[in-house]
Amino acid sequence: MLKQKSMEADLVIIRDLLCFLVVGLLVIWGWRVLNWAWLTPKRLERCLKQQGVKGNPYRSLSGDMKHMFGMDRQTRTRPMPLSDDIEPYVTPFLHQLLTKYGKNSFMWIGPRPRVTVMEPDKIREIFTKFADYQKVHNNPLVKLVVSGIAGLEGDRWSKHRKIINPAFHQDKLKNMLPAFYQSCSDMISKWEKMVSTEGCSEIDAWPNLVDMTREVISRAAFGSSFEEGRRIFNLLDNQINLGIKVLQSVYIPGWREMEANADRKNMGMSIDDVIEECKLFYIAGQETTSVLLVWTMILLARYPDWQTKARDEVLHVFGDNKPDADGLNGLKVVTMILYEVLRLYPPVVELVRSVPKDLELEKLLLPAGAEVLVPMLQIHRDKELWGDDAHEFKPERFAEGVSKATKCQMTFLPFGWGPRICIGQNFAMMEAKMAMSMILKRFWFELSPAYAHSPCSFVTLRPQHGAQIILHKFGTD
Ligand code: HEM
Repeated sequence: MLKQKSMEADLVIIRDLLCFLVVGLLVIWGWRVLNWAWLTPKRLERCLKQQGVKGNPYRSLSGDMKHMFGMDRQTRTRPMPLSDDIEPYVTPFLHQLLTKYGKNSFMWIGPRPRVTVMEPDKIREIFTKFADYQKVHNNPLVKLVVSGIAGLEGDRWSKHRKIINPAFHQDKLKNMLPAFYQSCSDMISKWEKMVSTEGCSEIDAWPNLVDMTREVISRAAFGSSFEEGRRIFNLLDNQINLGIKVLQSVYIPGWREMEANADRKNMGMSIDDVIEECKLFYIAGQETTSVLLVWTMILLARYPDWQTKARDEVLHVFGDNKPDADGLNGLKVVTMILYEVLRLYPPVVELVRSVPKDLELEKLLLPAGAEVLVPMLQIHRDKELWGDDAHEFKPERFAEGVSKATKCQMTFLPFGWGPRICIGQNFAMMEAKMAMSMILKRFWFELSPAYAHSPCSFVTLRPQHGAQIILHKFGTD
């Protein structure tokens, strides 16, 4: 009897202790949630506002995102007028924010304030101190898209960059020219067949250019053709669109041998690393370049004078010969045009970095937990930096190179800047010059009345409804 009573007393004590523990855990958890969802954002807001950085008041966990996505959706329901003043259309929320609060402003990405940075000196500091201002890794979609070196930091990033860098040197790029040439030829033959019967034909250039740039990467990276690479691209498309991690099932020719080699030679990258890099090059290398090409075609269709100037130069430099590395490097007008397209329609419209600890950016104190946004689309059109004609297509501004085109450095950032600048920029420029040279030699082209101008930023700045262009046969290769 006595024993039973003592057992009951023990059980009561255990029950009370458990209750105490659960309540304690709930209080700690509740405090953390309150801190994360309300107290911290409010503290960050006070810190920024005290320094004159303005933004909407923090009201709920979704921050400005509901409003932002709503505005994006609403704007995209109809095309915009055919003009190059695309900034209010592509990033309507940011446009509204900058109009309301000025350049020193911030927006709420959930409970995190994202501070806009448009001054050249501050941008330089962000890109130079890349160990402090790190890429944002908290979004699962970003993790899927930004794989490989683009998603790494610290020692792992510098190790990968050192290993990959040599593959992108100018002399190595020369070896890739046959791959560029073959892929462009295939696309052009297809277009020629379409044009041959009628003398002209309407095409949607966008899917054609996507296929072409995919084929280039397939050939350059694996020596395989697009037909073999198609499976990889389809899987990667699905991965981005559906968020499914299917990479393990992707067949990359020779990957098992690569694994053995990597382990044996201990070259510093595991097979998973190599696969992540391949995946990144497929995405980063193709999507961005096809976007550059499609806007170049749309703009040259709209500005026939520049189309003629570019064609004259291409015919003068190459005549009846195949485009070679020296000739491509010497194309001046085509380069000016590509730069102007990258300025007005940058494939990557903005870059974001996290602020993991309190940081001083010039005189601005950025509190830990904030983020910084470098909006290339806006910087490339800033009248203070580029002049009153900043919204106009004027390739002549690049006649004496990038440095003379603007009032100061750090204002032309289509490939980013600093140690983390795009590793593939020469690859992309060479491919774009090759493709445009071959297209200009064979066709002249104009915009179809069916074209609806709707640049939209989904990972890159794409033409939402395609690029309907009327091709006319011009000369022969
Ligand atoms: C017009 C074409 C291209 C544009 C506009 C472009 C743009 C960019 C930008 C803005 C960044 C910097 C990202 C950041 O700092 O967060 C970047 C990084 C990168 N790009 Fe490109 N890119 C292009 C073509 C390519 C090509 C063809 C390749 C490879 C074949 C490539 C591979 C990469 C890689 C690996 C990085 C990450 C570099 C690092 O973190 O160290 N890109 N690109």
